[in-house]
Amino acid sequence: MTAPATSSRGSWATRAGFILAAIGSAVGLGNMWRFAYKASEGGGAAFVVVYIVFVLLVGMPLMTSEFVIGRLTQESPARALRRLGGSRWAPLGWLFVLCGLGILAYYSVIAGWTMRYAIDAVRNAIPSDTNAYFGQVATGWDAVGFHVAFMVLTIVVVAGGIKGGIERGNLIMMPLLFLILIGLAIWATTLPNGGPGYAYYLRPQLSAVFTRDTLTRAAGQSFFSLSLGMGALMTYASYLRSKTNLGREAMVVALADTGVAFTAGLIVFPLMFAFGLQDQITQIGESTVGALFITLPVGFEKLGRVGDYVDSIFFVMLFFAALTSAISLLEVVVAALVDGFQWTRKRAAWTAGAAIAALGIPAAFNTTFLGNMDLFVGNFLLIVGGFFTALFVGYKMLPQAKAELAQGMESIFTRNTWASLVRYVAPVVLLVVIVFLAKQSWDAFVGLVTFAR
Ligand code: PHE
Repeated sequence: MTAPATSSRGSWATRAGFILAAIGSAVGLGNMWRFAYKASEGGGAAFVVVYIVFVLLVGMPLMTSEFVIGRLTQESPARALRRLGGSRWAPLGWLFVLCGLGILAYYSVIAGWTMRYAIDAVRNAIPSDTNAYFGQVATGWDAVGFHVAFMVLTIVVVAGGIKGGIERGNLIMMPLLFLILIGLAIWATTLPNGGPGYAYYLRPQLSAVFTRDTLTRAAGQSFFSLSLGMGALMTYASYLRSKTNLGREAMVVALADTGVAFTAGLIVFPLMFAFGLQDQITQIGESTVGALFITLPVGFEKLGRVGDYVDSIFFVMLFFAALTSAISLLEVVVAALVDGFQWTRKRAAWTAGAAIAALGIPAAFNTTFLGNMDLFVGNFLLIVGGFFTALFVGYKMLPQAKAELAQGMESIFTRNTWASLVRYVAPVVLLVVIVFLAKQSWDAFVGLVTFAR
């Protein structure tokens, strides 16, 4: 196979640029919208504990694996897997592309809601009947409009290239996001009666820790939140030239992502409890994906003038988080087209983006359909992708992977620990999760193909 034309693919200008982009991919709607409702479904702090253990034992080693494959081959996933493992492994790369298409299609619909909320919040136009308002925003032609607008923004950044588009975009948006997040978490401590909210969130009910549901929820959520199992971080690492310590980079990204999710909880839970909305979030969480969008504005409204400002800031932050993640989802598809079919980046971005915009339209008309896409593609297929990635790295290319990792990671002990986690822990745990998720995922799949409402 001929050497890839790395120079024309582009690359990151700085190491910080790569890390920030990877954090930008990881930190997204998953950290705010999804983490909070998974945590409230799953026993609050008990979920948080299992989640963290899962990130350490499975998430970080897998992220390191994705980084290794990307940097080693300097190619998009399908080509990288074929080069390292033969053509039998290329389909895994295509599964990644499918996930990129499928996740971004509904992700962009939710991101469209955040755009609409941000705009209406600034205009002070969020009505007090948030249930009805959400119904209006979330489905129908309005939702389609904002979904398409969001896709256009995503396409423009990705078409701008690695350095000039993706790196620059993250360099601007991520620091703003961090500032807003920390500001809001400090502000939340001043809320009246926030105490029970913190307690619910931070005090584990140990009985809930080891249930099967908590495990599967934490597994699915951690993959989604860390952008794992679909080649997004693999693709980003393929633009990385410098031989830095990939294990450490993975740790930084995972820590930042978990830190943001955790901090978002420090905002959402006190706010819910301060206004007695906690029962709503669980009830709504069961039936729709809209919990955060329905309950939070009620809390903000009860705060009067202050709430008018805070809700604008909150939804603008959500919008930045969504955009930097969407960029990485689109990049997986674009990289496959650029490397595989020699398309120009512009053509690839606009074509793939248009296809995704079209694919998302059913989700913009029906939140049940959206929820099923999230369960099947955003949860199940990511775990499946992660399972095969672990097998690939652990059993097909371990010597090469170890050699690549050694460039930058000096400690043999750390490398061996990583290898054991990838070989023995990740595949077993993920297989168990796949079995546990099978029924739910099958139902979601059936729901998708039958357009269940
Ligand atoms: N990690 C992103 C989030 O938490 C979503 C995402 C998943 C992005 C998979 C890329 C790949 O919102």
